[in-house]
Amino acid sequence: MLPSLLLPSTLLFSLAAVQVRAGDVPWLQPCDPAHQKLQEGTFQFQTDCDAMTFCASNSTCALRGCRNDDFPFGYLSNVTVPDKCPKGQFCPDEQDQCQNVLPVGSACQFNRDDECEGPPNFKDLADTTGFGLNVNGSVCLNNICMWANVTVGLPCIVQNTAYTAYGPDGEFVDIVSRGNCKVGLYCDSQQLVCVQTKAIGEQCDADKECSTYNCLANGTCGVTTDTPVQVKKWVYVVVAVCILGGMVGTLVALYFFHKKDRDAEREKRLQYWREQNAFRQNILQMQETARHSLMAYTPGGGSPRGSTLYSREGGMQSEDSGAPMLQQTTKSSGLRYYVSDDNSQLDDRSDEDLMMGQRSHQDVGRF
Ligand SMILES: *[C@@H]1O[C@H](CO)[C@@H](O)[C@H](O)[C@H]1NC(C)=O
Ligand SMILES: *[C@@H]1O[C@H](CO)[C@@H](O)[C@H](O)[C@H]1NC(C)=O
Ligand SMILES: *[C@@H]1O[C@H](CO)[C@@H](O)[C@H](O)[C@H]1NC(C)=O
Ligand SMILES: *[C@@H]1O[C@H](CO)[C@@H](O)[C@H](O)[C@H]1NC(C)=O
Ligand SMILES: *[C@@H]1O[C@H](CO)[C@@H](O)[C@H](O)[C@H]1NC(C)=O
Repeated sequence: MLPSLLLPSTLLFSLAAVQVRAGDVPWLQPCDPAHQKLQEGTFQFQTDCDAMTFCASNSTCALRGCRNDDFPFGYLSNVTVPDKCPKGQFCPDEQDQCQNVLPVGSACQFNRDDECEGPPNFKDLADTTGFGLNVNGSVCLNNICMWANVTVGLPCIVQNTAYTAYGPDGEFVDIVSRGNCKVGLYCDSQQLVCVQTKAIGEQCDADKECSTYNCLANGTCGVTTDTPVQVKKWVYVVVAVCILGGMVGTLVALYFFHKKDRDAEREKRLQYWREQNAFRQNILQMQETARHSLMAYTPGGGSPRGSTLYSREGGMQSEDSGAPMLQQTTKSSGLRYYVSDDNSQLDDRSDEDLMMGQRSHQDVGRF
């Protein structure tokens, strides 16, 4: 697209005013058929009536009889959307009713190539590029139906239209030039003959001169505007590295963030384990003491069940593991802390053992 001329911004306001004024008269209300025209700059059809109606010849807004859009805008739910026109017919800009396609040479509405009847060799002439050069081989130029059948070097008809376009730098005029040359040719505006379109990289002055319909700002033909952007391989690599780096970085940051908490938690658990172990050793030790005192207290052939039980267990524990346990108990500072801190648990769990221990100590002392 070649921005040729910047328009003063006052034009923008005048255009906006026109847009606001058009198209708000509802169904059955009066309208002026003379107000139906193409808007300046955008060449949009303009009428007094709203989006569901057209201005009929009796100067009232009547419901539309056909539509051009697949998804028409502005219809209320209580209004039936009219059908599109069948093949061989067209829906005019007013959208009042379908009409038969017009033969070559008849008057047609601005840029409505689809209103014109196709040529016999429409299959050869039809535009399949998607650039909108013609419809089914026919083209509406200067409001006259023609066929896009002119070959290289022969005189052609051209229609130049200046549209108001809106870009990042404000408004500019975009001139679109259409002709009746065959697809692959363009109508040169000066010589008015059909010329072969140019390949990518060649010099150009307008989009129509390029086979890709895209004349770049530096005056050379570029690739078609719908060409997908190809990203270089290193971009994929950089993006992948950034994603992975972000993930790993988050994990590492969280690791260090929670390290202090984790260490404190581990220390607490270790302390608890030490306390529990020391506590257990202490209880075992007390049991041991109780057993010894009981054995000493029991006369020679006391209860046979008791004696065997005590002798068997006592022999295993008292000599071998009793001594190191005692050492552990004395070493652990956690036990004393634990006992003094939480006496209730000790009392709940080993009240009996404690009593036994106390009793045995007393007994020992007495003996
Ligand atoms: C005006 O014309 C339309 C369409 O031709 C018609 O539906 C409508 O009834 C007419 N209105 C009046 C008031 O004659
Ligand atoms: C649709 O409903 C609106 C009110 O919501 C009413 O004014 C209008 O006349 C209705 N149109 C038709 C065609 O019934
Ligand atoms: C193209 O034009 C020919 C000749 O008028 C007609 O027979 C054919 O149906 C048209 N095709 C389309 C898709 O309109
Ligand atoms: C080319 O189209 C025009 C109408 O635009 C027609 O009059 C003329 O006969 C056509 N020429 C050929 C060779 O088909
Ligand atoms: C014009 O621009 C395109 C893309 O920006 C570039 O590929 C091409 O080489 C340029 N041509 C000239 C003649 O500067």
